[in-house]
Amino acid sequence: MNKIIIAIDGYSSSGKSTMARDLAKRIGYVYVDSGAMYRAVTLYAIEHGMASAEKGVDTEALVKALPEINISFTPAGADGVQHTLLNGKDVEREIRDMQVSSLVSPVAVIPEVRHRQTALQQQYGREKGIVMDGRDIGTTVFPDAEMKVFVNASAEERARRRVKELTDKGEKVTYEEVLENIRERDHIDTTRKESPLRKAPDAVLLDNDNMTIAQQMQWLLDLYHSKCPE
Ligand code: CDP
Repeated sequence: MNKIIIAIDGYSSSGKSTMARDLAKRIGYVYVDSGAMYRAVTLYAIEHGMASAEKGVDTEALVKALPEINISFTPAGADGVQHTLLNGKDVEREIRDMQVSSLVSPVAVIPEVRHRQTALQQQYGREKGIVMDGRDIGTTVFPDAEMKVFVNASAEERARRRVKELTDKGEKVTYEEVLENIRERDHIDTTRKESPLRKAPDAVLLDNDNMTIAQQMQWLLDLYHSKCPE
């Protein structure tokens, strides 16, 4: 059967990553989390004194350092989860913490950062058979993707989900700080000049406020089968 490219874009914490990963596992595709790449660049910037809450992001230094930042992924484990590697080191846990979350959107506005990640993402899609989630996958990275989904849910519902995810991992966060971070990132992501977050005209909207994970998966599989009949 012909393999296709599936692009899943949407707002922060809308459940994109979970659905993209589960879908990839179900249909035997490769899953790539493009947000993890921006998070890994942000972690590198923090660790090398180029980004902090007090001073913001030192764009010039970070752009210069880009050739030294190598991002890759481990193969998916039995749970379907891939780990993100930054210069060969497993940083899957660190890239999800609040410090990285609060600096990632300012890093992701930098055009040079975006061009580098986009080129890498396009390489992953060369052979098709890929599900990639992010903000600009259906608009910039794979404008010709055969299946595009744009996911949304209310900011409050997204904050509730993210608090649960972080608390389950043992991180101490409050609902208010997570909600504020989500609103702030939505704002930066939708208003930036380069590849802003927006729905591609040919993307199908999935509003998952009141959907269970199982309902969501069925919705995705139905869409996939309509694009790729067996
Ligand atoms: O997990 P969550 O949905 O909160 O975010 P993520 O997918 O890990 O992405 C983190 C941040 O990276 C986003 O808020 C964007 O600022 C940026 N990003 C981007 O600009 N373009 C992408 N394709 C993916 C992420």
